[in-house]
Amino acid sequence: MEKIAIVYYSRRGQNYVAGSIEELPVGNTERLARMLRNAVGGDLFEIETVSPYPADYTETTEVAKAEKRSHARPALKAVPDLSAYDVVFLGYPNWWGTCPMAVFTLLDAQDLAGKTIAPFCTSEGSGLGSSERDLKRACKGATVVPGLAVIGHEVQGAEDAAARWARSVLD
Ligand SMILES: Cc1cc2nc3c(=O)[nH]c(=O)nc-3n(C[C@H](O)[C@H](O)[C@H](O)COP(=O)(O)O)c2cc1C
Repeated sequence: MEKIAIVYYSRRGQNYVAGSIEELPVGNTERLARMLRNAVGGDLFEIETVSPYPADYTETTEVAKAEKRSHARPALKAVPDLSAYDVVFLGYPNWWGTCPMAVFTLLDAQDLAGKTIAPFCTSEGSGLGSSERDLKRACKGATVVPGLAVIGHEVQGAEDAAARWARSVLD
């Protein structure tokens, strides 16, 4: 039996939803992470930054843009120990074409050699962007399998597709 971790970053609150700004009590990526856990089990870990992003959506996009430019590594509240896991499902929203920098803070603190990394990403249309390529660089010695991309406001209807993808990763 492979040991599975489902690790995700997700920002709840004000977000861009199909052309307008809405308040989301649970983030899209968090919803998707929970679906994957229902499908294949595993231990669920949320990545949280010490400093919260602004409540305002547009302000968050500006902070995130600056972090991407400077290759920032925002401090995390806790770094899960992934050493015991064989397969890591790694979830995040697409921020400016790739993962939020907090995901790289997590990866920098891990030795992921020999593990399977399965990326899952929500976005408003950019899909995985360059994240798979960026993850391959950050996860040295790991196998990064083709990821799952879901439109954020369509996560609710993605349960079956998400379960099929998760099972295919484990085959
Ligand atoms: C800082 C920031 C940058 C974003 N950049 C993109 C982008 O480049 N392309 C895109 O399609 N969506 C972009 N989005 C939209 C999010 O990827 C999308 O709403 C996602 O589902 C949010 O997931 P979450 O609720 O788990 O945080 C951005 C959102 C934020 C807050």
